[in-house]
Amino acid sequence: MTCKELLDLRNLPAIPSDHDEILSVLKRELFGEMPPPVHATATIDAENPYAYAGKATERNITVSFDTPNGEFSFPVNVYIPNAVEKPKVFLHICFLTSMHRYNPIEEIIDNGYALAVACYLDIASDDDKFDNGLALKYPRVSNSDWGKIGMWAYGMQRLLDVLVDWDIFSDYAIVGHSRLGKTALWCGATDPRFSLAVSNDSGCSGASLARGGNDETRETVAKIVRQFPYWFCKNYWQYADHEAAMPFDQHWLIAANAPHRVLVNSAEEDLWAGPDGEYLSCVAASAAFEAMGKPGLIADSDELPPETCYFGEGSIGYSRRPGRHFFSRYDWNTAMRFWREKE
Ligand code: GCU
Repeated sequence: MTCKELLDLRNLPAIPSDHDEILSVLKRELFGEMPPPVHATATIDAENPYAYAGKATERNITVSFDTPNGEFSFPVNVYIPNAVEKPKVFLHICFLTSMHRYNPIEEIIDNGYALAVACYLDIASDDDKFDNGLALKYPRVSNSDWGKIGMWAYGMQRLLDVLVDWDIFSDYAIVGHSRLGKTALWCGATDPRFSLAVSNDSGCSGASLARGGNDETRETVAKIVRQFPYWFCKNYWQYADHEAAMPFDQHWLIAANAPHRVLVNSAEEDLWAGPDGEYLSCVAASAAFEAMGKPGLIADSDELPPETCYFGEGSIGYSRRPGRHFFSRYDWNTAMRFWREKE
């Protein structure tokens, strides 16, 4: 079957032509409302200009901003290649600190990119407790109030305030893996200063379509809201086992990033995330980019892709590699390639 035939079976809601309308539905029904942006500042707590054999400057900073309930701060590590005049910078919302295995820092530096890493737990805890971190500053009352994914995304936008103010970078990408890939897509969609959002294995409620056909192996809305209800606004919970009633599907989340680029990385064996659903979502989101005069996904066939593929010519990039759920060096190299090839 062609992708078009597969998509016809899924009966997806059409993407509104108005960007604000897409965002207002995704806020109300999926991730929750976001507070207005409040410009952040930072202190540089330590700086090492000789990091990585002298190839990089490492800055350990604290990002701070006001909230209705007082100041909020979180730490970030930034790595800046010394040999590049105004590098592009990846903002990575990461599971742990920058020393986590998901950060091949030296390789990123050697490719001429800068990297700013925040640990998501320093913004808000990854559980149903709303008594700590950013959650403490914004009591959750209504069904459309934000969940944790919205908070992690908002924190990264405040980090972006600081990096833009430094005026030493030429371009900004938001990157995340899995639950943080969902976060990266939402962060890019709600802040036009990013020129690229990279979703690595983001799966259900991320890049992968909720209307998924008969695929029993993938995560569904029912499964995700049972285990991780606090990632979302409460309105999303009603769609457990009622995907057909959703006024949107996940291709809207990719489309909400237009006209800025999106890269979707999948892994062939990551059936829980649903690589085919991620691919079809890119195909379905393409119309929104085309309506803005940008190419969507440019693939070399109408069929689902093979185990290994890279389609990097459009504004939506797609990559699939063999193997399992992981943010691998391969995935990072795909992101660097996509950003380098598409200026
Ligand atoms: C779980 C969850 C996924 C999520 C993943 C992760 O598997 O069900 O939706 O993407 O955790 O963040 O690692």
